[in-house]
Amino acid sequence: MTTERIVSSVRDDEEQQYEAGLRPRTLAEYVGQERVRENLAVSIAAARQRREALDHVLLYGPPGLGKTTLAYIVAQELEVQVRTTSGPVLERPGDLAALLTNLKEHEVLFIDEIHRMSPVIEEILYPALEDYELDIVIGQGPSARSVKVPLQPFTLIGATTRAGLLTSPLRTRFGIVHRLDFYTDDDLREIVTRSARILNVPVDGAAAGELARRGRGTPRVVNRLLRRVRDYAEVRADGAVDTAVAKQALELLGVDDNGFDEADRRLLRAVIDKFGGGPVGLNSIAAAISEEKEAIEDIYEPFLIQAGFIDRTPRGRVATERAYGYFGLEGPDRGPRLW
Ligand SMILES: Nc1ncnc2c1ncn2[C@@H]1O[C@H](COP(=O)(O)OP(=O)(O)OP(=O)(O)O)[C@@H](O)[C@H]1O
Ligand SMILES: [Mg+2]
Repeated sequence: MTTERIVSSVRDDEEQQYEAGLRPRTLAEYVGQERVRENLAVSIAAARQRREALDHVLLYGPPGLGKTTLAYIVAQELEVQVRTTSGPVLERPGDLAALLTNLKEHEVLFIDEIHRMSPVIEEILYPALEDYELDIVIGQGPSARSVKVPLQPFTLIGATTRAGLLTSPLRTRFGIVHRLDFYTDDDLREIVTRSARILNVPVDGAAAGELARRGRGTPRVVNRLLRRVRDYAEVRADGAVDTAVAKQALELLGVDDNGFDEADRRLLRAVIDKFGGGPVGLNSIAAAISEEKEAIEDIYEPFLIQAGFIDRTPRGRVATERAYGYFGLEGPDRGPRLW
């Protein structure tokens, strides 16, 4: 059900074609994430000067913040080809071996959802990352022997929403590790304006700000809001998006001032009504709202925490004063904050 949410940070199927068109192609076009961008610019320039492969790069952070986009940009800035796969797709060792042996000097292999790689595949990756070498076992039983196949120096870019699920031997093989954070409203406004230009929708500055404010710090979400608001403007107005049109459209979509939708409210209400505001464990919340634990952890919760509506404590999740205030409720007296 999460994929049907208008404010979901997860990509839906229809979105793939739009995203391709809206994706920035260079570091200069990539809005926000200044620290990450600058660090990558330096790393890329240095690797190019030394005529070496860029160190392996791990990008992590919540869905829709631009990990895939950045991976493609890095390859673009290195002026090399990028080959793409993902953790769950890599089933057989031979698949990975084929990808690796086909890489040319300094090319990029992008593995999305890298936390979902199987242990067997991971084992193959270690020597490849460390020594640009494959250890292949030929034959079976007593006649089996292992041969080493040299690889061209290459760069692995891994992306994940769950850096915590990476095994430590894998994590330590990345020389460059960057976390993407939620975007500021100013960044999101710039992204809306840029996307509006590409999609050829007239959006005034105030309306762009309105979308940005409700965009949950997430480029994918503001781009989706923009497309839905464009629909509304074309059908119910003259096609131009001003603040009034934006507000009406967003209200019709059920997205409030905070960028919350029904699913967020359901989660917050469950914590408040069924568990006295918490602390409550993730499993209990998941059962109460019939959602998967992973979806709550990956998709709902990061933004609610960032927005200050949920606190994560050692004893579980807690609804904050702000969450109570949002529903016009008085918070419970929890005494001094000990966590
Ligand atoms: N810094 C940015 N500037 C402008 N647009 C961006 C930026 N980052 C992301 N976007 C837009 O948001 C969309 C989603 O980004 P992307 O697919 O890279 O996210 P992701 O982090 O890989 O998400 P997932 O975890 O779901 O794979 C892109 O199509 C792009 O248009
Ligand atoms: Mg991605």
